[in-house]
Amino acid sequence: MLTLANNEQAFDRIQIRPRILRDVSNVNTRTTVLGHRISSPICIAPTAMQRMAHPDGECATARAAHHYKTCMVLSSWSTTSIEDVVASTKDLPSRNGEEEEPSSPVKWFQLYIYKDREVTRQLIERAQNNGFKAIALTVDTPFLGRRLADIRNRFQLPPHLTMANFSTADKGKSQVGRVNVSEPVSNASGLASYVSSQIDPTLNWKDVQWVKKHARIPVLAKGVLTAEDAKLAVEAGVDGIIVSNHGGRQLDTVPATIDALEEVVKAVDGHVEVYLDGGIRRGTDVFKALALGARAVFVGRPTLWALSYKGEEGVKEMLALLNEEFRLAMALAGCQTVKDINRSHVKTLPECLAKL
Ligand SMILES: Cc1cc2nc3c(=O)[nH]c(=O)nc-3n(C[C@H](O)[C@H](O)[C@H](O)COP(=O)(O)O)c2cc1C
Repeated sequence: MLTLANNEQAFDRIQIRPRILRDVSNVNTRTTVLGHRISSPICIAPTAMQRMAHPDGECATARAAHHYKTCMVLSSWSTTSIEDVVASTKDLPSRNGEEEEPSSPVKWFQLYIYKDREVTRQLIERAQNNGFKAIALTVDTPFLGRRLADIRNRFQLPPHLTMANFSTADKGKSQVGRVNVSEPVSNASGLASYVSSQIDPTLNWKDVQWVKKHARIPVLAKGVLTAEDAKLAVEAGVDGIIVSNHGGRQLDTVPATIDALEEVVKAVDGHVEVYLDGGIRRGTDVFKALALGARAVFVGRPTLWALSYKGEEGVKEMLALLNEEFRLAMALAGCQTVKDINRSHVKTLPECLAKL
């Protein structure tokens, strides 16, 4: 609960140092993630079970991300299968041909490592066969964090929904094993029971190398918060790092991600791209994260709120709003392109205090 709040509050403690008189008549938010051009550095974080928020769930999110030519990360625990999510965007144009440097929608797949490595390997295989451009390996969940609301509510997946990547039914989907989160043990959260029965708590850096060996696409570590682990991640051969505390849902009282970002960026020293998620609620938050070294940011809860509000249209509105705020922040801070945003554009709390 404390980290959840701090993820947002920590952004408020950072001030923007705007530059003036820099001809910002033409602001361009385009950037790249792992070499793929996207329209803006505002991307969608993986969140499980999106059909709990809206009947169209992950397909609605995928269509909205596709519309804005940005990157969406699909959760292993989606309520729509990898194949169906990909099929849901097939009718949409994949590029905006009018742009000088066209940007395209990009999908990454978020992976949990199962005790059953064959289940894990098949998820990787299906993601890459379906055009996903990277694997975001979640490294902060050997056990589920203590989620009091889930325990109180005895969380379980409603009976009409499934963890769709594991359905062994028809449609030619791979047989990757049956999982069921609908069986809470006594008074515990069904998800916590599921994680302790299925997810491998022995996970270590050798497993990252195992994923690298099986993936023909880049692999990112999602959930790094320290310089020490960032260095180990680079040594293990990851292609990118997502600074994340799982939206404050794992270990409470860990630092806000924006407070952890800079030490990770320094430790990585340009060897791989560094991304951030956690607490992004405004365009100025995106600007601050980029100024402190993030290549792009990922939004979790705002996507779910937008989905619950109005499905695909809701997620489009959320992306439009955040992008507009970000574009304005860039203009008012004197930046024409995202490359112009740098460390000199922000003042962090210790620096402010030092001047008191
Ligand atoms: C309801 C919910 C479900 C989530 N599911 C996953 C998941 O399946 N896999 C994962 O790696 N992270 C998951 N996350 C964490 C997000 O990917 C992300 O780290 C976090 O939501 C970012 O913080 P924000 O919600 O403040 O944007 C989930 C977060 C929420 C709120």
